[in-house]
Order: sequence, then structure tokens, then C-alpha cells
Amino acid sequence: MQILIIVVIAIHLLAGVYWAGSTFVLALAGGRGAESLFRSQMIAAVVAVIAGVILWTVLIGSARGPTETSLSVGAACAVAAAGFQGAWRKEPARAQRIAAILLAITVVSMAVARYLT
Ligand code: HEM
Repeated sequence: MQILIIVVIAIHLLAGVYWAGSTFVLALAGGRGAESLFRSQMIAAVVAVIAGVILWTVLIGSARGPTETSLSVGAACAVAAAGFQGAWRKEPARAQRIAAILLAITVVSMAVARYLT
């Protein structure tokens, strides 16, 4: 079980780092190059979300509290970020800037969640 969790967390973090990191760079570049990275970003987004749902099922279950609230905020921001990147493909500067802010919130709220007891 422990090895399964380690593998899923590694996949979750690698996909999340690629998605958020590339979004930050595209936001700073004013959206230039967004089209060529769109496919790989959406693949990373789907992988991060699926791995996140597996982690939630295995580690959180039906628990409720500050940790879970923080994870939920992060998850909602991540899903919204993917939505903006997909819906505003024709306006990459705006889409990447908003997605970057949302994914920054995701990374912080996920990383601090376990310390909010
Ligand atoms: C629907 C989307 C997502 C869900 C449901 C989700 C869920 C989770 C869960 C359940 C954990 C484990 C918490 C624990 O150790 O108890 C976690 C950890 C984490 N997630 Fe996500 N996640 C999602 C998206 C993302 C994205 C997009 C990123 C990055 C951009 C991300 C970054 C992280 C980080 C940094 C951790 C902390 C790992 C640790 O400290 O152990 N997550 N996530």
C-alpha cells in the first residue's frame, strides 16, 4: 500500500509541477508559445487530477476538517485553471495569467494542507 501511495504522489507532483511551472512561464511570456504547449499541459492536468482523486480516496476518504478544506480549495482552483486554459485558448495571455494565479493557490493550499490541524 505504501509503495502505491508513493508512486501516485510522485505522479501527482510531477504532473502538477509541469502543469503549474509551464503555466507560470507562459504567463510571464504574455501567452507566447501557449498553443504548442496546450496538449501537454492538458495531459498533465488530467494526470494530476486523476492522481489527486486517487490520493483523496486512499488518504482522506470521508474525513472533514481544515486539511480537507485546504485540499478542496486547491482542487477547485486547479479545475478552474484548466477550464480557463481550455475556454480562452484564443486569448492566451489572459488565460495563462489567470491560470497561473489559480495554480499558485493550488500548489500552496495542497502543500500546507497537512499542517492545518
Ligand atoms: C482535482 C485536483 C487535485 C486533487 C483532488 C488533489 C488532491 C491531493 C491530495 C488528496 C493530496 C494528499 C494530501 C495528503 O498528503 O494527505 C495532494 C497533495 C498535493 N498536491 Fe494535489 N490534488 C489536485 C491537484 C493538484 C495540482 C494541480 C497540483 C500542482 C499544481 C497539486 C499539488 C499537490 C502538492 C504540492 C501536494 C502536497 C504533497 C505532500 O506534501 O505530501 N495538486 N493533492
